[in-house]
Amino acid sequence: MSSQFYITTAIDYANGSPHLGHAYEKVLSDVIARHRRMEGRRVHFLTGLDEHGQKVQQTAQKRGVGPQALVDEIAAVFQGMLRDLRISHDDYIRTTEPRHKQVVQRFLQQLFDKGLIFKATKAGWYSVRQEQFLSDKDRAEDGSWPEIYGEVTQTTEENYYFKLSQFQAWLIEHIRAHPDFITPRFRQNQVLEFLKEPMNDLCISRPKSRLTWGIELPFDPAFVTYVWFDALTNYYSAVEGKGLWPADVHVIGKDILSPPHAVYWPCMLKALGIDPPRQLLVHGWWTINNQKASKSSGNALDTLGFAATHGADAFRYYLCREMVVGQDADFSAATFENRYKADLGNNLGNLVNRLLNMVGRSYAGKVPAAAADEELEQNLRGLWAESARKYQEAFREYQVSHALESLWVFISAMNAYIEARAPWKLAKSADPADRARLDSCLAHVAEGLRLAGTLLLPVMPETCGKLLTHIGRPVPDRFADQLAWSWAGTGSQVAEKCILFPPIEPPTAPAKA
Ligand code: ME8
Ligand code: MG
Repeated sequence: MSSQFYITTAIDYANGSPHLGHAYEKVLSDVIARHRRMEGRRVHFLTGLDEHGQKVQQTAQKRGVGPQALVDEIAAVFQGMLRDLRISHDDYIRTTEPRHKQVVQRFLQQLFDKGLIFKATKAGWYSVRQEQFLSDKDRAEDGSWPEIYGEVTQTTEENYYFKLSQFQAWLIEHIRAHPDFITPRFRQNQVLEFLKEPMNDLCISRPKSRLTWGIELPFDPAFVTYVWFDALTNYYSAVEGKGLWPADVHVIGKDILSPPHAVYWPCMLKALGIDPPRQLLVHGWWTINNQKASKSSGNALDTLGFAATHGADAFRYYLCREMVVGQDADFSAATFENRYKADLGNNLGNLVNRLLNMVGRSYAGKVPAAAADEELEQNLRGLWAESARKYQEAFREYQVSHALESLWVFISAMNAYIEARAPWKLAKSADPADRARLDSCLAHVAEGLRLAGTLLLPVMPETCGKLLTHIGRPVPDRFADQLAWSWAGTGSQVAEKCILFPPIEPPTAPAKA
């Protein structure tokens, strides 16, 4: 395993505002990036913006601004979201940047020179309103064209095509030989299913009469590049010459797996003689109050507002805990508040408070040494080892929700351990054996919290930093030996109090302005 780790997100379309789907994907990728950094990998984390295409051109026209001015404005908004969510990306690529355009044009020229791009005239159904060619799958069930397409006429158009079909057999073989290429595994079948039909060659141009906001074809200035050919290239153009290729993982949503990421991209690279990325991590779709999250439906719940009102870390935790990677999930104020109160406030937050109170009251704020070691303590330490192992195992497959679930088994067990030990009773006992049990109880909870807080740093970086500082322990930037039970914290000075998750005040759901 190389120490380098190159991770990317999809680059978001610059044709609207950031929404929950964008936020989730960046948070998931960030948690993975931070976790890998703590494992000691040299991480390169790329995200960015997809700035060309019809929709951007249309929106700019409607608003009476130039397309570049529009995408500059939108880039600032998306970057604001990344800041608000504490995303730790190393680079941000915008497809209007010269470093990107250069590579796209060079790729096109190379494929053209190899005879893998050809010009052809095709007749087809064209929607004037949507300014796009339609295929039979766009028809309504009765065979007519749906209303959204307006007038549909038969048109012929000259375009350039990439000989995608030439790589079909190679791609099927590649997917079969690399069962981890598409993760989770069940998504692979969907792609292989798609590949059962013979593929068409891919139209990679748009005539400038229809679309000007794109990257000009280097061999024919009357055309610009099709957006997917342009957008996919970002993963490579951003790191060219840095020795980072192939990417370790592209994190994407299920809607852009097949064909763009699972078919176009590996075939483009194969045609260019470049290695494919190692893995596609495909997440599911968020709904909001059980409706599809989208710009057009204008969901009434301002999901991103929860990060502002409840903290970026609580929001990050919720997203990671609530969505099983690969499956769909639903966002609602009720499930958010439930996780916030139950998992964070009453479970983790409460544990910290109990520790600080008791260490403050009985030991002047200094963590005692573990004097007694009975079955309860041994069980707790055993459970840590098991939870941490399960956490790391789940993380290996990027099953972050399962990892968190395992860790919360341990956190809940610490609360149960306190209940069983009843330190408030032990503190009143004159029996030295009870005093030893009290010492041990607080030493165990302090150490358990250090361990859990360390493992959770990638998910809730600020909150866990605060937790560790308040229990008098350093905030590590590597896991290294920090996940093993240790008594190095004996004698450390804890803070008087620490409110990690302030109680929610009604009204709770931020209303959409
Ligand atoms: O697809 N739930 O951009 P995009 C979960 N520019 N994920 C969602 C989602 C939802 N409700 N809605 C969107 C594009 N996403 C292209 C990508 S990559 C070379 C070019 C995810 O702004 C979506 O699946 O429509 C994608 O991974 C990302 O957000 C950006 O979507
Ligand atoms: Mg989309």
